[in-house]
Amino acid sequence: MAENKQTKDKMQQIISLCKRRGFVFPSSEIYGGFSAVYDLGPYGVELANNIKAAWWKAMVQERENIVGLDSAIFMHSKIWEASGHVGGFADPLTECKKCNSRLRVDHLLEEAGVMADEKMTEDEINKLFDEHKSKIKCPSCGKNDWTKVKKFNLLVKANLGNFTEDWSRDPVYLRGETCQGIYVNYLNVLNSSRVQIPFGIAQIGKAFRNEVTARQFIFRTREFEQMEMQYFCSPNQEMEEYEKLRQSRWQYYLNLGISEKNLKWHKHENLVFYAKEAYDIEYNFPFGFKELEGIHARSDYDLSQHSKFSGVALDYTDPETKEKYIPHIIESSVGVGRTMLAVLTEAFVEEQLEKGETRIVLKFPAKLAPIKAAIFPLLANKPELVEKARSIFNELKKDFMCEFDDSGNIGKRYRRQDEIGTLVALTCDFETLENNTITLRDRDTMAQIRVDVAKIKEILEKIIEGEQFLSFGKKIK
Ligand code: GAP
Repeated sequence: MAENKQTKDKMQQIISLCKRRGFVFPSSEIYGGFSAVYDLGPYGVELANNIKAAWWKAMVQERENIVGLDSAIFMHSKIWEASGHVGGFADPLTECKKCNSRLRVDHLLEEAGVMADEKMTEDEINKLFDEHKSKIKCPSCGKNDWTKVKKFNLLVKANLGNFTEDWSRDPVYLRGETCQGIYVNYLNVLNSSRVQIPFGIAQIGKAFRNEVTARQFIFRTREFEQMEMQYFCSPNQEMEEYEKLRQSRWQYYLNLGISEKNLKWHKHENLVFYAKEAYDIEYNFPFGFKELEGIHARSDYDLSQHSKFSGVALDYTDPETKEKYIPHIIESSVGVGRTMLAVLTEAFVEEQLEKGETRIVLKFPAKLAPIKAAIFPLLANKPELVEKARSIFNELKKDFMCEFDDSGNIGKRYRRQDEIGTLVALTCDFETLENNTITLRDRDTMAQIRVDVAKIKEILEKIIEGEQFLSFGKKIK
């Protein structure tokens, strides 16, 4: 991966801001950390919730024929056999003999311009790696001495129940993807709601994978949250629906405030045998264009497998044509953490101000901003200002995530709110006590206007809907 100093710096700056301001913390830090697992801090959880709400709105609320589901993390072990995960969900790994870094062989080959096929056996990938490894250097130590490739299964085993038996013989897994919970509930949803094919089931939930090389912050973690939608359709609708899904997912990212120049399609050349077509939407992360979301046409593989392994018929009879078939599935699958990293990358701006000062600001789209308004008294030692500012905060917090801050000077409070991406800041001053007007400061332009306190709620609602800040008053600063 070509990483220049600037992109590395941006990644480091984002990581450091996330820690400093309470978006993302490394897991178990006081115990020395826990590799490739992260916790969300106070602003991270707000951002993640806003991302999930935006996804749910676009995927479920605004769609007539997509319904939600929340299936359990623990499932019958047979599900993972049927899905092919027990047999084939494995990453090829090699170790640098000099510095002991463990790396994914498909990633090393990709960097060298060679595409490995997911389906390759251990022998096949060893052969391919042998052909190219002389020109592949270890990204950590620069040496070129590799162990044989081994394939490691990504499923995480759990020690659940069955106390008398040896659990390793019939292991329970933490789910490796949320969509299997959707497939095994297909019939329940069909029989209990008013949906008919074509219809979709959407779910947001945790997934777990024994990722061998989990680097790049929250891009690839061992515990992560997925937002997945599986759309069930007839065999002859599959590709048309797939095209529609691709277009709507592209538009979704534009609506989320991601600039089109930072998105691109990546078509999978090496398809798993059941897939008809697979595309990724890639985002231009600080370390280059990488997969943000996968959109796959999966044929009737999933329901056929579950029908075979469970013995339950999962076919569908078209109520009009009486045609009987196993539904085909198209899916949209994206991680919450990966979306967060894209949103953070897009929002992160370092601006040069006058007098050599710089300001870091997260210019989140209004809907995603963790905090919508910060309310300050101009002076913390004037009880009448504090009381008035508190009364405004107490009203606004009923409708928006807000913060009250009377610490430090106003400049410091603004900087802090800029760094967490708060949309607007309201400063209560002596004029507020006289005529019930207040200064409203815009995060992105730092422009200030004076507005009636009674109008703040309405103004904030409109700003969140995307109206221009300066349409609410004349700039005073
Ligand atoms: N059901 C299909 C599926 O899970 P995938 O390509 O393995 O497909 C889909 O994953 C999406 O889930 C990815 O595009 C990414 O956004 C997210 N994802 C996968 N593995 C991840 C990991 N280890 N850490 C963070 N996000 C991950």
